[in-house]
Amino acid sequence: MKTVAVVGSQWGDEGKGKIVDLLAADADVIVRFQGGNNAAHTLVVNGEKFILRLVPAGALHAGKVCVIGNGTVVDPIALIGEIDELKRRNHLKDDGLLRLSYDAHMVMPYHRAIDRAREARLGKSAIGTTGFGIGPAYEDKMSRMGLRFDDLSNFAAFKEKLERNVREKNLYLKLVLKAKPVSAAEIVEQMRKVRTRLTRYLGDTSVLLAEAIAAGQRVLFEGAHGVMLDIDHGTYPYVTSSNCGASAVFGGAGVAPGKLDCVLGITKAYTTRVGGGPFPSEMKGKLAETLRVEGDEFGSATGRPRRIGWYDTVLARHAARLNGMWGLALTKLDVLTGIDPLKICVAYELRGRRYSEIPPGRHLLEKVKPIYEELPGWREDITQTRSLAELPASARRYLNRVSELSGVKLAMVGVGAAREATIVIENPFRA
Ligand code: IMP
Ligand code: MG
Repeated sequence: MKTVAVVGSQWGDEGKGKIVDLLAADADVIVRFQGGNNAAHTLVVNGEKFILRLVPAGALHAGKVCVIGNGTVVDPIALIGEIDELKRRNHLKDDGLLRLSYDAHMVMPYHRAIDRAREARLGKSAIGTTGFGIGPAYEDKMSRMGLRFDDLSNFAAFKEKLERNVREKNLYLKLVLKAKPVSAAEIVEQMRKVRTRLTRYLGDTSVLLAEAIAAGQRVLFEGAHGVMLDIDHGTYPYVTSSNCGASAVFGGAGVAPGKLDCVLGITKAYTTRVGGGPFPSEMKGKLAETLRVEGDEFGSATGRPRRIGWYDTVLARHAARLNGMWGLALTKLDVLTGIDPLKICVAYELRGRRYSEIPPGRHLLEKVKPIYEELPGWREDITQTRSLAELPASARRYLNRVSELSGVKLAMVGVGAAREATIVIENPFRA
């Protein structure tokens, strides 16, 4: 298959970065299509750790075209920082290989200020956002007051719009949120530098992708976050402000629906989430602590400890249905080594009734009780295994059960953090 989308099937942090990096070897173009630097992909390449937030993971392979599509919201200062860091570490050498849609919206300092001030005021009912201004930037996009990279082409007009926005945002910050205002003059100066630095990357990325697809190139669409953080299909309001599933490829990259060949769902061998909101299979206590440490489950964007839970196949079926998944890449199986027994959530119970789908009325997710199936664990080190046959029988059984209950075949299994620590059953680009 030539065009593949990778999407998260839980609450983000499924290990998409590693799988995207692995698939990028076979792709010509790698595309981000939604979200912003609230996403953070941790990659380990030749023992070196990288955290990518905005630049697609293809940047770690020489010669690949990396695209940041129109559906993203891009903090230009953060993007420049990331580009500089990659260049310092000998990547992204050719500026022609990074393309940024001029239709993408810019995350401004006032978006960050609003995001943080709102969260602070919400106190206990805070969403637990990353504080990077993502929600407020998408709000401005929808209310048609956002600034796009395209606006930088006429700096005088850009400055006027920016100053108008700052006046309005400052009123809101001061009067409603009781927070400190931002300085228009400072932002204008920052954006002058942004213009000098980023103009070289701007282009019509929809046309670029249409041409690449027509020429038979392989395109990898790199989703951020996960289905349960999707603004429509996630645990609203404890979600991010974009669609995070495969459907977002079309709007967010400017690619026609018929052009996507395949969706690969990324799922972790257990479940995590950062921030507030319902989490039916959440576990408390010592085991959660063990998994948090073993799995290094601390937010790569914010450093916050992630909440930990058992694998939830109700959510997996929800994600599979919404995305039409061709296959599953299950990551971090090695983290479960030594835990016995293992549990898989197969359904929920609520007021004496069993639900195999999320019960209608999403608020009920706060109240459901998970129904678990127990499976035996394993003790053997599996980090060197490179085929299913090498895995202990109970690990294979766990994988089979996850796949069966999710209704999606397994395509890959991650057994360690490094690119090569992966059992590849079927590579979608070679299928
Ligand atoms: P926001 O995207 O910063 O507005 O945050 C909204 C919610 O999404 C919060 O619970 C965040 O922790 C969560 N979130 C956003 N991006 C990611 C991600 O890439 N991984 C995990 N959680 C995320
Ligand atoms: Mg992440």
